[in-house]
Amino acid sequence: MTQFTFDAPTVIRTKRDGGVLSDAAIDWVIDGYTRGRVDDGQMAALLMAIFLRGMTDAEIARWTAAMVASGERFDFTGLRRDGRPLALVDKHSTGGVGDKITIPLVPVVMACGGAVPQAAGRGLGHTGGTLDKLEAIPGFTAELSKEQIRQQLCDLGAAIFAAGDLAPADRKIYALRDVTGTTESLPLIASSVMSKKIAEGARALVLDTKVGSGAFLPSEDEARALARTMVDLGTAHGLATRALLTDMDVPLGRAVGNAVEVTESLEVLAGGGPDDVVELTLALAAEMLDAAGLDGVDPAETLRDGTAMDRFRDLVAAQGGDLSAPLPLGAHTETVTASRGGTMGRIDAMAVGLAVWRLGAGRSAPGEQVQFGAGVHVHRRPGEPVAAGEALFTLYTDTPERLGPALAELDGGWAVGDTAPPHRPLILDRIT
Ligand code: URA
Repeated sequence: MTQFTFDAPTVIRTKRDGGVLSDAAIDWVIDGYTRGRVDDGQMAALLMAIFLRGMTDAEIARWTAAMVASGERFDFTGLRRDGRPLALVDKHSTGGVGDKITIPLVPVVMACGGAVPQAAGRGLGHTGGTLDKLEAIPGFTAELSKEQIRQQLCDLGAAIFAAGDLAPADRKIYALRDVTGTTESLPLIASSVMSKKIAEGARALVLDTKVGSGAFLPSEDEARALARTMVDLGTAHGLATRALLTDMDVPLGRAVGNAVEVTESLEVLAGGGPDDVVELTLALAAEMLDAAGLDGVDPAETLRDGTAMDRFRDLVAAQGGDLSAPLPLGAHTETVTASRGGTMGRIDAMAVGLAVWRLGAGRSAPGEQVQFGAGVHVHRRPGEPVAAGEALFTLYTDTPERLGPALAELDGGWAVGDTAPPHRPLILDRIT
């Protein structure tokens, strides 16, 4: 009897016409794309069909499982540190603007006794990626072997690495989504995040699900549905998962880009930094420690007493980074000034994210090299007083022709008014 097999055009047409993909079709197309039997053009067409038509919960679950099965699944449960089993816990954000939280958060959790095996991502669309930021540190590498990850977890309590052999289907699909306008899709975000996190070997996971203009899914209802889907996917795979819904209407902190976000993270680790970055770091740390069953150390104390900074230095050094070398900053700058005095109103996170992307901090073609020195400094945050003529934003890039398009993205994305905008809480809800 002839074995039935699939073909990409039929799978694409099924989803394009609003049909439901069978488990076998999903397994076939994910495997085929990972191995190169399904090409980028075909997968791009399928991703756009999924973007437009969505997926059922059962399709999302199967798509995620197929992405997990496309590679290795780490298991670090037998490892010990100082004679005790590792408290393996991680966090992942659904993507935001100025979202550098992983950089201070991981060392805080290390300093509190957690072990973080973090498969991190690169920039996606208008949002930055942890790997692009950390690679701005001269010498830093995220290409770690499984043995190096294992060793770092035992010696230091963390490793931040490119997913490599974990969920390789996600690595390819993530890069393709970045350049095909298919990022803002609940099924594609949920499966992308959870395939990496299920495969990376953590025992507990805290998700930072973003809500607001700079999030991939801006409405609270959509973000809530995304968080629910991801928590359920994690739980179904034996990963204790919980989520916070957090505000992403305004960029986090005062620095958006690659190296500029590392600099701001170092300020937080030195006990300073913007209030919102500190608040979110500590809220996520508290969730991670609780999820890992750790208590007894106050995460805020690790920022005050310098132990989180020490752990960050250890981590960067173990991954080849040199924190004594200067961080890059784009040589060409432009400053946006206030034409009137008053109070800084809303700053649209999407406008800032797109400006930073135009400056060269993100990609518009697969595999493009990002500019580590590209970024924006936000001098006045919503509600802060503004004097006529003072600097509100400074833009940095290595390619001066990028300044005009970046300024155009920022235009209309902020305003100075007579009164402060309404206060928006940073942490909106918690989903378990
Ligand atoms: N983070 C991911 O890993 N994938 C997404 O799609 C969005 C954020």
